[in-house]
Amino acid sequence: MPRVVAIDAESPQSEAILDAARVLRDGGLVAFPTETVYGLGARLSDPQALARVFAAKGRPAGHPLIAHVTDAEQARTLAADWDARADVLARAFWPGALTLVVPRSARVPAAATGGAATVAIRAPSHPVARALIAALGEPIAAPSANRYQTLSPTLASHVLKSLGDRVDLILDGGACSAGIESTVLDLSAGAPRVLRPGAIGLRELRERLPDLMLAAPVVEDEDATRPSPGMDAKHYAPRARLLIVDGRGAAVARRQEIIDGGEPLTGLVLLGTTAPADALVHVLPADPAGYAHQLFATLHALDDAGAQVVVVEAVPENEAWLAVRDRLARASG
Ligand code: TXA
Ligand code: MG
Repeated sequence: MPRVVAIDAESPQSEAILDAARVLRDGGLVAFPTETVYGLGARLSDPQALARVFAAKGRPAGHPLIAHVTDAEQARTLAADWDARADVLARAFWPGALTLVVPRSARVPAAATGGAATVAIRAPSHPVARALIAALGEPIAAPSANRYQTLSPTLASHVLKSLGDRVDLILDGGACSAGIESTVLDLSAGAPRVLRPGAIGLRELRERLPDLMLAAPVVEDEDATRPSPGMDAKHYAPRARLLIVDGRGAAVARRQEIIDGGEPLTGLVLLGTTAPADALVHVLPADPAGYAHQLFATLHALDDAGAQVVVVEAVPENEAWLAVRDRLARASG
C-alpha cells in the first residue's frame, strides 16, 4: 500500500511537501489535493514518470494530461503561443479551476499531450498543490487520481480505493472544495471553446469572452474524432448502474419499483434539504456548487454501500447546472 500522509490543507507542513517533491524528482507518483479533485502527479519533464501515470490509471496513451503550474509566467514556458486572451483569463481565474488549451512548446514532452500539438495548463489554487509545484520547481502533470473511466476522487480514501499501490504517496488534505473538475477551455483553434464544463461557470467566462463557444456536450460515438479525448460518453462511472429520472416523486417511485422487482440495494439521490431516510438515500443541496461539492463523494459512498442501481432525481436544465448535468450524463452513459 502507498504511504498516506496527512497534510494541513490551509498551511501545508514543509517536511511533507519536501518529501513529496523528492518522490516526484525520483520519478515517482504523488496524489495530492486540488480545489477540484485529487490529482495523480508526476514530473512533467520526465517521460518515464508520465508513462507510469498512464499505466497507473489504465488510460490510453492518446488522452492528454493537464500541466499544473504556479502561475502564468510558468505557463508561458510550456506554450508556443500565449495570446492576450490567455493573459486576461489567467489574470481573472488563476490560481483556480480553469484549464487553458494552447499550442505547446518544445518543452512539453509528447507523452504528456498524447502527441497533440497543444497542451492543457492550469494553476491550481489549493495551497498543497501550489506548495508542491513550487517545491519541485517545475510543472506537474496530473490527471484526476482514479482509474480510467471511473469516478473522480474528492477524498484521499477515494484515491486509495481506486489506485492502491499504483501510487507511491498520497497527501491527504481532506475534501476538495469544488468536488468537480476544472473547466477546460480551448484557445488553440479560433474562437474560444469550452471542451469540458467544470467548476468555473460559463456565465463567468462570458464576461471576459463574449464569443465563447461550447463543444458538443457528450460524444456518443466512441470512434468519432472528438475535440477533447477526455470526452467519451462513458466516463466518471460508478460501479452501480445510474438512472436519471425527472421529478422527485417519479424518482422515489422508480426506486420503489426496482426494489419491489427484487433489487434491494437500490440507491436514491434527491435534490433538497430533507434528512435522508437510510444509507442508500442521499439528499444533495439544490444549488449547483453545493451539489457538485458532494456529487462524486455521494456516488463513491453508494458504491461502497453496495448499491447495484442508483436512481438520481434529474437536476435543472439551466446553464448553471451544466457541469453537474454533464457528469451525471457520463456516469449513466
Ligand atoms: O480539475 C482538474 O482538471 C483535475 C485536477 C487534478 O487538476 N484534473 C483532471 O485531469 O481532471 P484529467 O486528465 O482527468 O482530465 C483532463 C481533461 C480531459 O478531458 C482531457 O481530454 C482534457 O483535459 N485535455 C487535456 N489536454 C488536452 C489537450 N491538449 N487538448 C484538449 N483537451 C485536453
Ligand atoms: Mg479524469
